[in-house]
Amino acid sequence: MKKLNEKCLESKQAIQKELGQVPPVDLALVLGSGLGFLAEQLEERKVVPYTSIPHFLQSTAIGHAGNLVFGKLAGKDVAIMQGRFHAYEGYPLAQTVYPVYFLQSLGARGLLATNAAGGINLEFQSGELVAIEDVINFSGQNPLIGPNDDAVGPRFPDMSCVLDPGWFARAQAKWKEKNRVLKKGVYIFCLGPSYETPAEIRAFRQLGADMVGMSTVPEMIAARHCGLQIFGISCVTNMAAGVVDQELSHQEVMDTANRVKNTFASLVKTVVEAFE
Ligand code: HPA
Repeated sequence: MKKLNEKCLESKQAIQKELGQVPPVDLALVLGSGLGFLAEQLEERKVVPYTSIPHFLQSTAIGHAGNLVFGKLAGKDVAIMQGRFHAYEGYPLAQTVYPVYFLQSLGARGLLATNAAGGINLEFQSGELVAIEDVINFSGQNPLIGPNDDAVGPRFPDMSCVLDPGWFARAQAKWKEKNRVLKKGVYIFCLGPSYETPAEIRAFRQLGADMVGMSTVPEMIAARHCGLQIFGISCVTNMAAGVVDQELSHQEVMDTANRVKNTFASLVKTVVEAFE
């Protein structure tokens, strides 16, 4: 099996070929369901489809464009994953997190991961944007299962702080200047693709979860593994199963993400500005 650094080199060479040179990257962003529009707003924007990059999987999920987009956002050199890979697409978790390691190899020092999520906390409302202060891996899987590449990170990475405290404090202060409050919550990761049942949501509430979704946690584990600073944002696109007397649908997820897109864009820019 190829070592990670060999794979990263091959991905990098493909981008070099496509763009002439690999643009600088300081911060990696992953944009979740219905939230990818922000990649259109980059300055000095350069787009490489995942199909052109060796070792990248293909984005099959609806609302995930499948492009790696380089450029400047809020003055920072960023690379945006416009669409992510999920376990429910049939991919092993270790393969879904490859882009995190790849972007780290290009120079990224931080990861800002966003997602659409169901609201478990009854104080949340549909459309709310919440910083992910901690996570529960409820998948029974882990992207690091298998031999560890000691050149990348430790066998047993620490997970006691998935939200970078300094980054959060600076982002919160900047968000407050815009007269907004940045809430924090615990995100629970389920494999999907079926939505949860009301009984599962009641159980998750007792476990201390505030939001539920089918992504992000594997990326955060990989990011901790390779030493990136992390910031996660959930867009609560719907209340979780059983909270309101209404069936869940992907259409509602996309509609809500679309409804709050301006606020979402403004928060992401604020968080990017706050990255040091
Ligand atoms: N459950 C899981 N994933 C989700 C949800 C949900 O309610 N909403 C958006 N992604």
